[in-house]
Amino acid sequence: MLRTHTCGELRIEHINESVTLCGWVQKVRDKGGMLWVDLRDRYGITQLLFEEGSTAEELLTTARSLGREFVIKASGVVTERYAKNENIATGDIEIKVESLDILNASEVPPFIIEDKTDGGEDLRMKYRYLDLRRNEVREKLQLRSRLAIATRNYLANEGFIEVETPVLIKSTPEGARDFVVPSRMNPGEFYALPQSPQTFKQLLMVSGLDRYFQIVKCFRDEDLRADRQPEFTQIDCEMAFVTREDILGMFEQMVRSLFKEIKGIEFTEFPMMTYAEAMKRYGSDKPDIRFEMEFVELNEVARNKGFNVFDQAELVVGICAKGCAEYTRKQLDALTDFVRRPQIGAKGLVYAKCNADGSFKSSVDKFYNQEDLKTWAEAAGAQSGDLLLVLSGKTNQVRKQLNELRLHLGTELGLRDNDVYKPLWVVDFPLLELDEETGQYHAMHHPFTSPKKEDFDMLDESPGEVRANAYDMVINGVEIGGGSIRIHDRATQQLMFKHLGFTEDEAKAQFGFLMDAFEYGAPPHGGIAFGFDRLCAMFGGTESIRDYIAFPKNTSGRDVMIDSPSPIAEEQLVELGVKLR
Ligand code: AMO
Repeated sequence: MLRTHTCGELRIEHINESVTLCGWVQKVRDKGGMLWVDLRDRYGITQLLFEEGSTAEELLTTARSLGREFVIKASGVVTERYAKNENIATGDIEIKVESLDILNASEVPPFIIEDKTDGGEDLRMKYRYLDLRRNEVREKLQLRSRLAIATRNYLANEGFIEVETPVLIKSTPEGARDFVVPSRMNPGEFYALPQSPQTFKQLLMVSGLDRYFQIVKCFRDEDLRADRQPEFTQIDCEMAFVTREDILGMFEQMVRSLFKEIKGIEFTEFPMMTYAEAMKRYGSDKPDIRFEMEFVELNEVARNKGFNVFDQAELVVGICAKGCAEYTRKQLDALTDFVRRPQIGAKGLVYAKCNADGSFKSSVDKFYNQEDLKTWAEAAGAQSGDLLLVLSGKTNQVRKQLNELRLHLGTELGLRDNDVYKPLWVVDFPLLELDEETGQYHAMHHPFTSPKKEDFDMLDESPGEVRANAYDMVINGVEIGGGSIRIHDRATQQLMFKHLGFTEDEAKAQFGFLMDAFEYGAPPHGGIAFGFDRLCAMFGGTESIRDYIAFPKNTSGRDVMIDSPSPIAEEQLVELGVKLR
């Protein structure tokens, strides 16, 4: 080793020891007679001291030539500092330098590499390797590493086998577009990158591997958001001879153990809610249950009083904002503007204030008297001082809109505390989802998910009502993972493809290999995949998964550091069979 210690290691008990440190120059302070250098590595910062009179002249000259981010090796004796720095772990000591080597010089970095940097997002992304020298950024990768190791340990202890599945495959439908790779050896033909290893992990169950996992890259060509990247990582798992309860139990335990080990948090509750219930109570299949503010359906009490908007609506539904009756006109207008934004699309927002004196004031006083509003308040469990906010319209639409308003208010009122974690299973998702534009059904999870036995007979008559044996794990309103019990026989799988609009030939061409495998002793099986980047961000207490990926893409799917994607030479296109000469 070039060094005897790291820059985060030396303490008062090391005084008088001769040591050698290596690292990057964070800062040089030259006060004439004395010169200090803050030397940094991933473990911390240690102060180096050069002193006129006692330090050799040549050494002082070298020290004076140091710039930010020079890589150096310094040897010397650990001494007690005159002025201690309580903010850093090595703040009691400094190194009186006796020899100094410049291992590599550095250009002036494009931004300051300290906790508080002057670099904007774009610049830091372009020089991501420099940004990664900053504590805050590096610590996120360290958290990711600890989580991956803890996950592997947990699953290995439970007898799971880690298997790598191929990356050059053909389409595995998970609802996004595929990234494709042209095949030079098979001109005109393409591989698809896996949206997930779904079909392979099922084949591994047919192989008898019984418990599989993989921490694996997946690729989806979809619009990016804070919680989505085109390439992301899953903790992908599958088990044979299991029921839904076995899977939920195993992976609830995994997440419990990760939270306990990494964050020291033990969940007291891990509730389960059906999809139907989640939609009714929160208007979302991933409700944030850190706060209540549950939906109250007001059809009974709000219709037939002459207010046309409510009378014609399929659903009148509201939330009760505790203690918000004092909201000003301006605040209420802001909430109305919020729900009227095109992304949310509500036409308007009705409010009813439950005043401290027991009276009511609403935006629809013309249609509802005090007695009417009292029944609203009773239905909503609202008390004096509370504010009711009500939307109306088509059931699915209005639930979505009110969900947005609920989350917005939850944030505004400080009810979504990043240090509080509320996990939840959402189960019994619909099997199929109707695409309103094409009139075609899509698999809500994926086409390999089994319908619930008791709903099977409805597949032909009312496919939209069939529930799936599918489940999601949701924490604080984020879908952390999802999975299902699978179909494991050819006939059911074929029937499923038929309902998804595949002809028999199409199904055979795309998924014949899986259906064939089902004919050679496929055990009943099921599994789940967790969004590993999302799990990391959740543990780190932030929303954006980008920070937890060493070299992420920006919102246009670009890596601005290596500048990709990029055009390729015409020759290469020809060679790949993508372009004719
Ligand atoms: P699903 O499509 O629900 O299921 O994906 C599983 C989990 O992966 C995460 N995730 C993403 N994370 C970051 N960026 C993305 N673009 C992205 N897309 C999904 C989510 C999600 O819950 N094969 C099935 C699993 C199974 O049935 O076992 C699957 O991939 O956290």
